Amino acid sequence: MIIAPSLLAADFTRLGKEAARAQKAGADWLHLDIMDGQFVPNISFGPAVVAAVRPHAKKLFFDVHLMCSKPEILLEPFVKAGADQIIVHVELGERVAPLLWKIRALGKKVGLAINPPTSIAEVQPFLGKIDLLLVMTVNPGFGGQSFIHECLPKIQQADAWRRAKKLNYRLEVDGGINHQTVAECARAGADTFVAGTALFSQRNMSVAIRKMRQIAHENDPGLADLQM
Ligand code: DX5
Ligand code: ZN
Repeated sequence: MIIAPSLLAADFTRLGKEAARAQKAGADWLHLDIMDGQFVPNISFGPAVVAAVRPHAKKLFFDVHLMCSKPEILLEPFVKAGADQIIVHVELGERVAPLLWKIRALGKKVGLAINPPTSIAEVQPFLGKIDLLLVMTVNPGFGGQSFIHECLPKIQQADAWRRAKKLNYRLEVDGGINHQTVAECARAGADTFVAGTALFSQRNMSVAIRKMRQIAHENDPGLADLQM
């Protein structure tokens, strides 16, 4: 299981220290939300900021989520900045397949994201080509929004396909994840949890991460199978 604090909810006046705080608190990954003001109605930060943060959290896996209309021009800059995985959105349509191929060719892990209004069927053709499927649980653009419960069946479907096709992509959730919603997502089959506000707002992030990990673990359906 992976806990990935989102830097979008960090104190932007001290991003290096905030990334180091997440690492020290026991995070597995650092999630980096890249917004271009076009694909989503907000702007966050770019490759120069990611490169500046990278040395402050050397041990963390950098999970770069591109909410951008033209990811083609951003793949190499984010790889140079220290990305370990790059996630692009299925809503980009016919550009998705070449984008996934290019991320793989750059030697990085390949992620695909899907927005709440998009049918889960859209990701099906790509399931054999990805390392991670990100099911968005809010409409992307802003941190601190409420979890959309209607997304849960998509997580269940993605998990069912993974088992049926014997694939091993990770199943990530992002948006409104806290100590309550993490349980619902884990029960639905998610194994990788992005949380911005719920983790960075805590003075003691170690305790918050440990608790989130424990709740996710207790609600892992695989564990329930074992106990039966
Ligand atoms: C939403 C971003 C999320 C966001 C999550 O546009 O993709 O990663 O930062 O933030 P919280 O956990 O505050 O909902
Ligand atoms: Zn994200």
